[in-house]
Amino acid sequence: MYLKIISIKNVHDEQEGDLSIFEGSGRDLPFDIKRIYYIHHVPVGTVRGGHAHKHLTQLLWCPYGSITILLDDGSEKAEVQLNDPTKGLIVEHAMWREMRWEQEGSVLCVAASEFYDESDYIRDYAAFQAYVKQQAKLP
Ligand code: TYD
Repeated sequence: MYLKIISIKNVHDEQEGDLSIFEGSGRDLPFDIKRIYYIHHVPVGTVRGGHAHKHLTQLLWCPYGSITILLDDGSEKAEVQLNDPTKGLIVEHAMWREMRWEQEGSVLCVAASEFYDESDYIRDYAAFQAYVKQQAKLP
């Protein structure tokens, strides 16, 4: 599976630490950001997610801690470790994802291409597989 991993720009200072930044609108991200959310205070070992989106594209990054992202496009599976604040993972639509918390205090940040819309979610794995098959048949 082709993984879209980006390196987030980082300004490092030996005394004062690091400042990381990404810009939207075709600069660092292939989409305009309409929504940002973050997931925190998650007990270690918890697996969240378990859904795909019909249209949404997202950038995931972990500013603190370690989180495993499990991806499944309906035919292939992949795992990405987010444990570096300058590493970003772009997750396109039609991608089943789960996120496993590996370290206490880990924070998962998400920048999304669309406003929240529950009707964009596919929360049932069999429905996701059917959706991917149906999309593959479209011209
Ligand atoms: P969900 O996307 O299912 O989280 P996760 O994949 O991490 O388990 O969202 C959890 C709950 O939060 C669900 O009830 C929907 C709600 N929610 C919003 O109201 N707005 C949002 O922007 C998001 C992402 C979730």
